[in-house]
Amino acid sequence: MKKGEVTILAIETSCDETAAAVLRGNVGSKKPEFKILSSVLRSQIKLHAAWGGVVPEIAARAHVSAIKPVVEKALSNYGLKLEARSSKLEPVVDFIAVTSGPGLIASLLVGVEFAKTLASVWDVPMLPTNHMLGHLYSPFGQSTKNDRVPSILFPMLSVIVSGGHTMLVLQKDESHYKVIGSTVDDAAGEAFDKVARMLELPYPGGPEISKLALKGKPNIRFPRPMLDKKNYDFSFSGLKTSVLYYLQKLEARSSQLKADVARSFEQAVVDVLVGKATRAAKEYNCKTISLSGGVAANTRLRKTLAQECKKLKIDCIVPPFALCTDNAGMIAIAAYFSLRANKKPRKPEEVHADAGWEI
Ligand code: KG4
Ligand code: ZN
Repeated sequence: MKKGEVTILAIETSCDETAAAVLRGNVGSKKPEFKILSSVLRSQIKLHAAWGGVVPEIAARAHVSAIKPVVEKALSNYGLKLEARSSKLEPVVDFIAVTSGPGLIASLLVGVEFAKTLASVWDVPMLPTNHMLGHLYSPFGQSTKNDRVPSILFPMLSVIVSGGHTMLVLQKDESHYKVIGSTVDDAAGEAFDKVARMLELPYPGGPEISKLALKGKPNIRFPRPMLDKKNYDFSFSGLKTSVLYYLQKLEARSSQLKADVARSFEQAVVDVLVGKATRAAKEYNCKTISLSGGVAANTRLRKTLAQECKKLKIDCIVPPFALCTDNAGMIAIAAYFSLRANKKPRKPEEVHADAGWEI
């Protein structure tokens, strides 16, 4: 083993995906050097679709039945067994990282308690990791398949848009970051999901809206909430309500009209996100903008942000889809960077799930 080389097993169960990953990297290198050796995910989307959203009780139960096989698979892809014991002859992993928050408490507890048990049995230290830092560091994972960690130019502005969060994070260098804006009500993904429900589309609504929007025209003028406000906060609740009022006033909803609503709503969200992100990037002289979280899968958002970045001569990074939505690879990456920043590993008894953990 090279000096500074570590292996991290990461576990993620904050919402409705049970995930585990194994990362190997060098924490002492000048530039980040790591590779995700294995990443396994079991999605619960089908279980929740019937209810039109994530049901916390169902999510927690599904994590309980999925966690062991998912962790076993992640380890076996890397050539290890869950039954392996920590010894000089048979090293297991050096650290166990686990998403400890934010998220649904019953879901978080499954991953955290499983990780704590494993860490106690194997006698390895733990790296409790914030889910949002997973999204923040996900751009570093974009080309690890080629064994090459991208060199990112700082300052970087991260746009984190998911079902639970909308955040602008300013990252000065590898280890220093500051949240400069977030949503005051609904998250962007949540607004996509709620508007999809109004249009009688299945859950999760984001991909459905973007599919339907391809057939529509942006000819309905929905509001662009807080776009002109001086701060970097967001609000999507009013936009959602104006779509609701618009639909309520209609006598009939033709399929073309539904497509126009989807397209016009999507455009309003994209205008706000891209408008605020580029303004912040200019103000803070950012050299890079990165987009992450589930909503980063939206093609119009990716394209528009890339076009605006090109105009401003700013690098635009959008990680591959599998790293944008919830996964354990991003948790392993965030944990790896916490070691590079000399954050102290924890004993299992010091690790606790915290549903409201803010970065
Ligand atoms: O990051 P993520 O997988 O989970 C959370 O941490 O919330 O994000 C899920 C969110 C959902 O709200 C989903 O509707 C949204 O991402 N989403 C999209 C698209 N694909 C997923 N939103 C807009 N357009 C998409 N193509
Ligand atoms: Zn997430």
